[in-house]
Amino acid sequence: MAFQACIHPDCASRFSVDETLTACPKCGSLLDAGYDWDRLSVPDSLRFFESRWGNRRQPLDFSGVWRFRDLLPFAPEDKIVTIGEGQTILQQADNVAAFAGLKAGGLHLQYEGLNPSGSFKDNGMTAACTHAHLVGAESAACASTGNTSASLAVFASTTRQFRVLVFVGSGKIAFGKLSQALDYGAQTLQIRGDFDDALVQVRDVCRQKNIYLCNSVNPFRLEGQKAIMYRVLESLAWEPPDWIVVPGGNLGNSSAFGKAFLELKQLGLIDRIPRLAVINAMGANTLYRLHEQEGLRWNGGRIDRAKIDAFYAQMDAECRRASTLATAIEINRPVNLEKCLRALDVCDGVVREVSDQQVLDAKAQVGAGGFGCEPASAASVAGAKLLREEGVIASGDRVVCILTGHQLKDPNATVAYHSGSGQDFDEKLVPHGVTETPFANRPVVVDNDFDKIVDVLKSFG
Ligand code: F0G
Repeated sequence: MAFQACIHPDCASRFSVDETLTACPKCGSLLDAGYDWDRLSVPDSLRFFESRWGNRRQPLDFSGVWRFRDLLPFAPEDKIVTIGEGQTILQQADNVAAFAGLKAGGLHLQYEGLNPSGSFKDNGMTAACTHAHLVGAESAACASTGNTSASLAVFASTTRQFRVLVFVGSGKIAFGKLSQALDYGAQTLQIRGDFDDALVQVRDVCRQKNIYLCNSVNPFRLEGQKAIMYRVLESLAWEPPDWIVVPGGNLGNSSAFGKAFLELKQLGLIDRIPRLAVINAMGANTLYRLHEQEGLRWNGGRIDRAKIDAFYAQMDAECRRASTLATAIEINRPVNLEKCLRALDVCDGVVREVSDQQVLDAKAQVGAGGFGCEPASAASVAGAKLLREEGVIASGDRVVCILTGHQLKDPNATVAYHSGSGQDFDEKLVPHGVTETPFANRPVVVDNDFDKIVDVLKSFG
């Protein structure tokens, strides 16, 4: 009743869920997890899932992913691997709404940083680890800008299910993330290259050494990430918002969200699909350039590959490499590009790019009004503000921005923003054109002297 299916309409080959695949063996396209919904018992209302709240001692009903298991039914319950992921919240953020030009009550933040490893990746990793368990994998690997590796490492250390190998690029990984992989005992390889290089290497290594690959080319990972949208809907009493705004890196999240909404609509569980906005960093803007400038579209699955190939050829010829302070999304060749184009098609979506300055200003606003987030996550808020300024988002729209990672993932960026001033900035910030800190909350340095401290506190009131 569950299967894997090639997303290319001219191939559309199907494979068993028992196979370990990260691309169609016949044509090389991406694979989806698919279901014969007619032969499955699917609840006739999303309200059904509320009945599981009362059964939270049961780990599958506690999980913010698996309590929706009827919507990702690819594994028997005794194979499911869960560490309590998905206990995240949707918070109304009126200060951020005002910053973005929206009315009070019009903007909500979905805090995926509250997951066990501190990012949204745990939603997908529980599903990938479940599939790994299903096929009897003994070791697993991923390439990462930091969060995927932290997530895989915490699943491995908690469940002791398999050995883990993680590949990260050199230099750019935020220390909060690297420290997690090391602390949770993952064998960590720092490749002398960037994320794209690490991903190419890990794919080859996994193929040759028969290691289970947990990057988002794994179709089961994206099944778990659909649950982020189920929880957003649940928090809004099952009423779809007008917009979902999400940062775009390797484009797994946006792809999963589009699939979630498409399936819910086909199953008659929602009557309206929200619009999707995917936000690139200006320094890593492949999707923005292809979708908004080159007019690349899903086109019923017959995507203009030549356009993509020409884009990458030019990128290589010019030696252009992604570079942004939002290191989580510093990616040149997003592997889920095709699926993301499908999501944009399904959700009448748009793509925008934001500068590192816009990202850090938005991040400071998020922090000042709530739990905070890492830089890449704030691209969603910066993107919502930009779309509001353009009039694409209307002032009365209901907007949900996905905050993908925890504030503590990348403390350097936060401290540099709040303590830096002009040329005093951490030199890492300067090349990215971050010159202003309008929302900085500067620490005050004061002598170890009571009277001087009291003096400083005069302005405190
Ligand atoms: N936000 C954060 C905090 C991330 O870590 C990532 C991706 C994204 C957004 C982009 O999500 O790839 O689904 O478009 N991080 C990956 C990693 C690449 O290796 O941790 P996407």
